[in-house]
Amino acid sequence: MLEIKELETGYGKKQVLFGMHLEVCTSEIVALIGPNGAGKSTVLKAVCGLLPLWKGEIRFNGDVIKGSNPARNVAKGITFAPQGSLVFADLTVKENLEIGGFQLSRNELKTRIVQIFKMFPVLKERARYDAGKLSGGEQQMLALARALIPKPKLLMLDEPSLGLSPNLVKVVFEKIVEINREVGVSILIVEQKVHEVLDISKKVYSLKLGQIAYEGASESLKDDKTKLKHLFL
Ligand SMILES: Nc1ncnc2c1ncn2[C@@H]1O[C@H](COP(=O)(O)OP(=O)(O)OP(=O)(O)O)[C@@H](O)[C@H]1O
Ligand SMILES: [Mg+2]
Repeated sequence: MLEIKELETGYGKKQVLFGMHLEVCTSEIVALIGPNGAGKSTVLKAVCGLLPLWKGEIRFNGDVIKGSNPARNVAKGITFAPQGSLVFADLTVKENLEIGGFQLSRNELKTRIVQIFKMFPVLKERARYDAGKLSGGEQQMLALARALIPKPKLLMLDEPSLGLSPNLVKVVFEKIVEINREVGVSILIVEQKVHEVLDISKKVYSLKLGQIAYEGASESLKDDKTKLKHLFL
């Protein structure tokens, strides 16, 4: 479904990715891990079209993704919940969800919001609250829900557990698994909570200095403590 080959990109003159590759198949959860500054968020930004591609190729269901048109990529079925799960604090929960569906017709949007409220009852209860008044975990849920509004084929999550207590991390991860199982959406997830993300993903890529340092089944990396330590040195 998603195929990244020999990708090179960066910011201005600063190169961050040096020929990295990655593949996500239909309905699969894939984890992208690695130390701070390795370029994980940069990969997600490149896939959703927020960065120009210097070299290499990104294909989504066979179509070439160009580094310039995020809206077109949303229409193709790629959505992104960025790091820090930014929600619009002064808008209500419902308004935040409406923004996620900016490309849908009024009727479609209405139906989608009803469906999403079923999936996230907490958000339904808080529909009229300002998003800024939600707890950290609830805001994370809102960011996740907002990215699901347009019925993506590929959902990209950048550290959905950031700043959450262990209990809430569990809740968010369970939700991610539930979404994957029930809706069949493919998920590319960047996470620092390595053990937790290896538990829910099928495949894992580890990025180091802008290159893939390891790829394999999540199951086999989970028990390899030496390897794991090495990847984060
Ligand atoms: N907007 C930007 N402008 C210039 N440099 C940037 C920008 N965003 C990131 N960088 C640089 O690119 C490199 C990779 O950043 P990136 O955010 O992709 O790392 P990351 O793997 O997601 O790290 P973290 O785990 O801390 O989130 C870093 O050296 C960072 O300083
Ligand atoms: Mg990051």
